[in-house]
Amino acid sequence: MTETPLAPSTARMIDYWLGGRHHFPVDIAAATAFEGAYGPCAAIFRSLRDFSGRVVSHLEAQGIENFLVFGAGVPTQGNVHEVAASAHVLYTDIDPVTIALGQEILAGHDRAGYAFGDATAPDGIDPAAIASFLPGWGREPIGVVFLGLAAFLDDPTLARALDQLHRAVPAGSMLAFDFDGQELADHPAALAMMGEGFHMRDPAGFPALLGNWRLTVDGAVPVARWRPDGEPADVPDAFYGGLALK
Ligand SMILES: C[S@@+](CC[C@H](N)C(=O)[O-])C[C@H]1O[C@@H](n2cnc3c(N)ncnc32)[C@H](O)[C@@H]1O
Repeated sequence: MTETPLAPSTARMIDYWLGGRHHFPVDIAAATAFEGAYGPCAAIFRSLRDFSGRVVSHLEAQGIENFLVFGAGVPTQGNVHEVAASAHVLYTDIDPVTIALGQEILAGHDRAGYAFGDATAPDGIDPAAIASFLPGWGREPIGVVFLGLAAFLDDPTLARALDQLHRAVPAGSMLAFDFDGQELADHPAALAMMGEGFHMRDPAGFPALLGNWRLTVDGAVPVARWRPDGEPADVPDAFYGGLALK
């Protein structure tokens, strides 16, 4: 049983907004306070998770069978292994409570696992976890899932991390990314709650951070408008995302 955390986590707040069961009172309190400053969040995060689902399905349809997920958060509510049910998935994060929760949720799963992984030092991921959960590592194209994470990295750190990942994976690998636009600029109390290490970005400037990753023709667009299934969800353009190819 995972230990009750003292501090909230954005990942577990998202689980709360998605209607999941894997969060604690401290996460609900933080989510409620944030909504008090910003407004309702459930539809926005549902649209973000739906984007993740469409991107992962697309990668699976392109033949990607191994997914390495950074800043993974809680592996439920339509997360990668639930969408790509026959794929191999290694989820990683740096938050010990979230990692323990993820390992508890995935215990006994033969194709999806959870390990410590710092996106700014991807070479540090436990090779045993890679061997167990990414059998195609080093041989086959990898789906690198980098969602909900860019906001916590400044530009040089993000660009360096994406560059390291580009070098680590074979040609044909694909990067699913998102980033926060400037929605919170009009909500200073909510922005303050995100702390000083939170980075909003101008969508026009983001592609430059991709380095050698080649952005697909879909571009970096509001997530609800990335290859929507039918009419895009009617939510603010809080998050932008897309796909890039090695
Ligand atoms: C907003 S949550 C996103 C969770 C999930 N990816 C999603 O989109 O719903 C951000 C996650 O990134 C993790 N994180 C923050 N900095 C990180 C880093 N340097 N490397 C890996 N994970 C990080 C946090 O612990 C947290 O679980």
